[in-house]
Amino acid sequence: MSKINIGTKILGLTGYPLEHSLSPLLHNQALKDLSLNYVYLPLPVKPDDLEDGIKAVRALDIRGLNVTIPYKEKVIPYLDKLESLAEEIGAVNTIVNDNGKLTGYNTDCSGFKRMLEEDGSFNIAGKKAIIIGAGGASRAVGTALASGGIDEIYLLNRTRERAENLVQDWQKNYPAIIVQYSPLIPEYYLPLCEKADLIVDTTPVGMNPETDVPPVIEKGSFHSGQLVVDLVYNPQETTILKAAKEKGAETLNGLGMLLYQAADAFKLWTGYEPDLVKWRSAVNNC
Ligand code: ATR
Repeated sequence: MSKINIGTKILGLTGYPLEHSLSPLLHNQALKDLSLNYVYLPLPVKPDDLEDGIKAVRALDIRGLNVTIPYKEKVIPYLDKLESLAEEIGAVNTIVNDNGKLTGYNTDCSGFKRMLEEDGSFNIAGKKAIIIGAGGASRAVGTALASGGIDEIYLLNRTRERAENLVQDWQKNYPAIIVQYSPLIPEYYLPLCEKADLIVDTTPVGMNPETDVPPVIEKGSFHSGQLVVDLVYNPQETTILKAAKEKGAETLNGLGMLLYQAADAFKLWTGYEPDLVKWRSAVNNC
């Protein structure tokens, strides 16, 4: 971290809880490398305090925030403005504070797309995908796939109503794509997994510290020729990725998405590009 003085600007991450996050490590390293007079802090906010937490961003002149589980949708009513992609997605993972006006952005969508293309060598057009979970991360993933020309999306979620809202939104924005809800029950989802080229788990299942849990869908869901992505990156290999690998599928954790979404957020706050090579070695060494 650069030396803190009266001119130091504040950036941070909010969510609850925050134990899993590598964002402070990444952003503070880039700020130091670029000699920018900012500090990036973990700023956990309990669920009942979210509105006050966002008011504090204005009061304390915090330049920007990342937003993580479980606030990517819940934070929206407390912002002044949404950038158009964040508005379409219905979720925010980055807030920029311009003289007290808070604008919500979504850099998860471009981060996910870049990870699929660059790290997973996956071409979205014409494919069929399963998305598990219907929160803010799922919203960004669905929009990335739909705007990338996917043919079909099957959305698996525990809570039917939340998933059906999402299905409606995607169907409205991308009428040419087939979007279907399935409950998280094997007899419903297994035939869909059979057809899927891509499976993306957007739930926190398997995330540190609760790593020793069964995958959110069963092992019979996976087959060779498929790419299975878990947005969790801590641990780097969750139980869903282990199971997918055992069945011969390709796997990818969420590290690439973490780096790419963070790079876009960093640029929005500071105007500078971080060094992704240094970031990759930092996460591999921690
Ligand atoms: P984010 O905004 O980061 O995506 P979120 O809004 O809390 O976080 O959404 C997390 C998603 O993971 C939700 O869809 C949640 O399911 P519900 O809609 O039924 O709440 C899903 N999820 C969380 N824990 C889960 C678990 N143990 N099993 C299955 N799904 C889970």
